[in-house]
Formats: sequence, C-alpha cells, structure tokens
Amino acid sequence: MKCRICSNQIDIFMSFGKMPIANAFLKEADFQDEYFFDLATAFCEKCLTVQLETQPDPKLMFHENYAFFSKTSKHMQLHFEKFAEWVNTNYLKNKDSFVVELGSNDGILLENFSKKGIEHLGVEPSANVAKVAKENGVNTEVAFFDSEVASNIVEKYRNADAILAANVMCHIPDLNEIGKASKILLKEDGVLIFEDPYLGDMVNKVSYDQIYDEHVFIFSALSVQNIFAASGFELIDLLPQETHGGSMRYVLCQRGVRKISESVINIIANEKKIGLNSKTTFDEFKINCELSKERIQAMLKELKKEGKKVVGYGATSKSTTILNYCKIGPDLIEFISDTTPIKQNKFTPGMHIPVKTYEEFIRYKPEIAVLFAWNHKKEIEIKEKEFIESGGKFISHLF
Ligand code: TMP
Ligand code: ZN
Repeated sequence: MKCRICSNQIDIFMSFGKMPIANAFLKEADFQDEYFFDLATAFCEKCLTVQLETQPDPKLMFHENYAFFSKTSKHMQLHFEKFAEWVNTNYLKNKDSFVVELGSNDGILLENFSKKGIEHLGVEPSANVAKVAKENGVNTEVAFFDSEVASNIVEKYRNADAILAANVMCHIPDLNEIGKASKILLKEDGVLIFEDPYLGDMVNKVSYDQIYDEHVFIFSALSVQNIFAASGFELIDLLPQETHGGSMRYVLCQRGVRKISESVINIIANEKKIGLNSKTTFDEFKINCELSKERIQAMLKELKKEGKKVVGYGATSKSTTILNYCKIGPDLIEFISDTTPIKQNKFTPGMHIPVKTYEEFIRYKPEIAVLFAWNHKKEIEIKEKEFIESGGKFISHLF
C-alpha cells in the first residue's frame, strides 16, 4: 500500500482479520447486512507513521447515529476542564481569543470556553452529538474540517488563536489537508493542539485494541513532526496524558515562531531509544498481540468450564477489535453492560454479544467482569467497590 502521508510504498505488519465498524451496535434484524472490512496496520519507514491499511468510508462511522458520547465519563469531564484551563493559561492571553475545536462531539471541551465567554466554534461531523453540544450553549457547525471549511470560518468569524482536537486527529485519513486547513485558519502565531492515544503506550502495553476503524493513525511524536512539517508546522511542546490508556498532547505552531520545549527533545530521543522508528518494533508487537489473544481465549474458556458467570464491562469501541480478533462471542461472555443508551438492547458489532444496561450488571451479580473500558479502571474500581468486595473480579486482555 501507499503511505497516506508521504506516498512511500509500505507493508502491513499486523492483520486482525475481518472487522465490523467498531461503533456499529446493531439489532438482530440487521445481522445479515453487517459491513466488514480487513483490519490491518502498516508502518511507514520514511515518515514513521503507523496507519490502517484500509479505512471504511468515514460516512459509515461518523453520522447522525454516532454511538460515542464523550460525557459518559466523569473523569473525562474533569480532564477536559483541566485541558481548557491549561490552554487558557498558556496560549490565550486575553478574552478576545477565538478557539476552534475539530470533532467537538457533545461539547465536553468547548463548554469550558463557552462558560468563560470566550469565542469558540466546534466543527463536528456527527449531527446527533453536535445537537447535544448546541443545546448546551456550545457554538457548533456540522462539517468535516478541510481548507474550504477553514476559509469559510475565517470569513464568517476570523483567524483563530488555537485549534484544538481531542481523540479526533487520529481519525482523519487526509492529514495533509488538515495541515493546510489549519494553516489557513490560524493566526500567524496560532497553535494547533491535539491529543490522541500514544503509540509508545500501545506498544508498551500491547493495547492493540486502540486499533479500530476510526483510528486510522496511532501517533508518535516522530510521526506527528513529519506529518505536519509539510504545512510548515513544528512541535513546540509534548505532554503525556493518562487518558485513553496513555495519550500524548501535541502542540504545534508555524516553524520558528515559538520556542521549542525540552520535553520535545527528550520525548523524541526516548522514541528513538524504544524503537518507534524501527520496523522490528512492530514485528515484535505483532507477536505480542498473538500471545495476548491466546492468553485471553484460554482464560475465558477456563472460566466457562468452571461455570463462572462472566460478563463484559463497557461496550467500548476498542472492545470490537478484541472480540472479533480473539473470536469471543456470547458463548464466553453472556452480555456487556454499558451506560450509553444508544448501545443498550443491541448487540456488539461482529460477535453479537448482547449489550445491556448498567442496572442489569448490578442485578445479575456476575463473578467475573471483563473490563473492556480498562482505560477507566481507576474510576470504575471506585464505583464498583461493592462488586469487588463481594468477591467479583475484573479481568482484561491487559492484566
Ligand atoms: P471509551 O473507553 O471509548 O471512553 O468508552 C467507554 C465506554 O464504556 C462507553 O460506552 C461507556 C462505557 N462505560 C460504562 O459503561 N461504565 C463506566 O463506568 C464507564 C467509565 C464507561
Ligand atoms: Zn509515509
């Protein structure tokens, strides 16, 4: 395949087999028409990006029925409050600033600017989540961001001081276009700030479930530097985050305009040390994925043999990769409980495990819960004190 960034010829290092759309929770009547594609990842030795071989049409993923609402987690709400505060302190020097967020979802980040009376705009392609944001007083337009949309924003509003994106940039296949569009939209000294799941954490933890249809890229600092260089940007700061099981916040601005922090130098040096620039790292990652698959399959089969009551906790997007790659169905996990109404009383994509309410988790009193929302482990362990104290156990493909 050709690299999406630099057109270099690149090879697949890992194939997960046939996959459905990660967030396409479905009714039984729709089982027959379910859409599948080959989920495989490749590494470009030239621009150092890890990317999907094929990504389904974005319109199949981000639409008026998009099942992911950011506000389901209290921790994430707090994270975005702090994120907004940090942007304010470091990059918005006065109240006249203008902030644009790409993929603003239900407004979880921008509402913190809206509350402070700071001019803001969310650009969000999924109409249902955008509607929720607007109802909460977050100025939002339904669109996929590109150069044309950027020019329209400049005309209708003005140039932005900051463009923000959280767990969005890695969804966008044509990042060269995003670079160009960001340059159009930003002031000369404006900053492009985004955070996404971090490749270093994924390789380290073997959290291969970060790989699914929406995540067309899993970034490292090395790759982000290369991707945005084409539109004149350079990394000026890097801040590791705990969210989504290990993320990185990238801060970029036009080359030479702002000072480069120590952490850029240190983190890039560390990435070279751990081999994020080398194909052999990803060949090892593949072997680790296969070992992880064997381990969780054996664990669940053993629990089944022992007659244990096993359910899943959190029908996350990530779980679609685990369930389909490891061929885990309702024979091994009776149901998955999830607090998101749009997922409840449906079935998981591909493996068709029933998704039930959180109340059902409480009522059923399972002995084992497979923690698919492992990135929310701290929050969930506090919430489920009673489950744990009465002998319940959380397991996962990671621990
Ligand atoms: P995420 O890992 O992509 O943020 O998705 C989290 C999913 O897990 C979402 O569907 C909501 C669900 N969830 C619960 O059901 N209970 C919880 O306590 C948490 C934190 C998440
Ligand atoms: Zn490349």
